[in-house]
Amino acid sequence: MRDTAVIIMAAGKGKRMKSNLPKVLHNLAGKPILNYVLDTVDQLEVKRKILIIGYKSDKIRELMGDKIEYVEQKEQLGTAHAVLQTKKLLSGFKGDVLILSGDVPFLTVKNLKKLLEYHQANNFFCTLVSTVLKNPKGYGRIIRDKKGEIKGIIEEADLSTDKKKITEINSGIYCFNKEKLFQALEKVTTDNKQREYYLTDTVKILLGEGLTIGNIIIKDYSEILGINNQLDLADASQKVYQKTLQNLMLQGVTIVDPNSTFIERGVKIGQDTIIYPFTIIEKGTKIGSNCFIGPYSHLIDADIGKGVRVWASIIESSAVKEGANIGPYAHLRPETVVEKGAKIGNFVELKKTIMGEGSKASHLTYLGDATIGKKVNIGAGTITCNYDGEKKHKTVIEDGVFIGSNNSLVAPVKLGKDSYTGAGSTITEDVPAGNLAIARSRQTNISGWRKKKKEDKS
Ligand code: UD1
Ligand code: CA
Repeated sequence: MRDTAVIIMAAGKGKRMKSNLPKVLHNLAGKPILNYVLDTVDQLEVKRKILIIGYKSDKIRELMGDKIEYVEQKEQLGTAHAVLQTKKLLSGFKGDVLILSGDVPFLTVKNLKKLLEYHQANNFFCTLVSTVLKNPKGYGRIIRDKKGEIKGIIEEADLSTDKKKITEINSGIYCFNKEKLFQALEKVTTDNKQREYYLTDTVKILLGEGLTIGNIIIKDYSEILGINNQLDLADASQKVYQKTLQNLMLQGVTIVDPNSTFIERGVKIGQDTIIYPFTIIEKGTKIGSNCFIGPYSHLIDADIGKGVRVWASIIESSAVKEGANIGPYAHLRPETVVEKGAKIGNFVELKKTIMGEGSKASHLTYLGDATIGKKVNIGAGTITCNYDGEKKHKTVIEDGVFIGSNNSLVAPVKLGKDSYTGAGSTITEDVPAGNLAIARSRQTNISGWRKKKKEDKS
């Protein structure tokens, strides 16, 4: 096999998106559009990977890192101009150039390999990928003669009315012989409606030199759908979510309402887990079997054991172990661990906290930077005062502790095994094991006070 260099075009702003964010960075069901293309390219064996950037290039570099070479196209004068910017970088390279667009996310590795193999086996100077669309509007059309031979590509803007009916479109994916590509690119002009240098014009130029052009027609057009506006983006997102839900359902997960459930690719869910409506699950979350998740839940990078119940709650970068019960209206912030059978109830927020096995915080509580043992009861309205305005401090609550309602636990503080605190206490000092701590002023009852007040008024 000859060497291959991949070029991905992503310098355009994406005017039709009507957005300040570069088009290829828009989020498509959990990751930027461009990452779909890069992830596919990563599975190909190629010598070079080059990304053409222009509009907000710093932002793209920052997000994509150094796994790819970059070329700047300062002014976006068209796709031919874009590819020409790689000439210097590829001066020492011999072989084929595979050209992809950053806005065509669903290409499969299988078809790209097929394209490369077909191109090389037949020694074509250019092989282009086309498909047939019911609604070809917006795409460049493949022009063929009576014998069916390719004669060129005409962009939508330059099409005569009769040719608008052509339904075979250019996918924007091509393989070129490197030398011939750059020779042809030098000859491309801006003699068209959009005054752009069209990469598609190279086809006509090569044909003019008597060179043969190869062609692959992809049957599943959804693979080469380009994203040009917000409607395309929403449609594409829907497709990704649908496919992910279908896969999960076929693996034995119950999705009560696929229309109101959004689960990102890469999320793992065990058998007989039921996902109730209005639930979003993202960033590589793992969920065990026999869980009840939702309705109204949002799980981000969560690790959920077997038989867990999560009801109307948010869980971020936290672990919930077997049989634990979360919600409704709980918020688990990063680095929280809820151990087996623990209960986190209504309006409870946890941050960087370990909640021990079988422990309960059933209502209206904030636990931050706390380590809580087994079988602890946290009374309603308990707050760990973990922040002194400068630093965060730890609260340690040992096994079997009972915290009365409405306690403030001023950290750093430690409550020893089996200790108790009275309701309404402000705990500022450690409580030894087995002790009862009461930290509130004593109640005084003033006898006859109301009657005396009335008498004073009259
Ligand atoms: C292009 C093709 C069209 C094809 C369609 C398939 C041309 C002239 N037309 O049209 O035949 O049917 O793709 O999706 O090539 N870009 C740059 N620099 C530029 C211009 C564009 O890097 O100066 C990048 C864009 O960021 C984008 C890609 O090239 O990622 C395609 O550009 P776009 O403007 O979307 O081309 P289409 O009009 O879709
Ligand atoms: Ca496009």
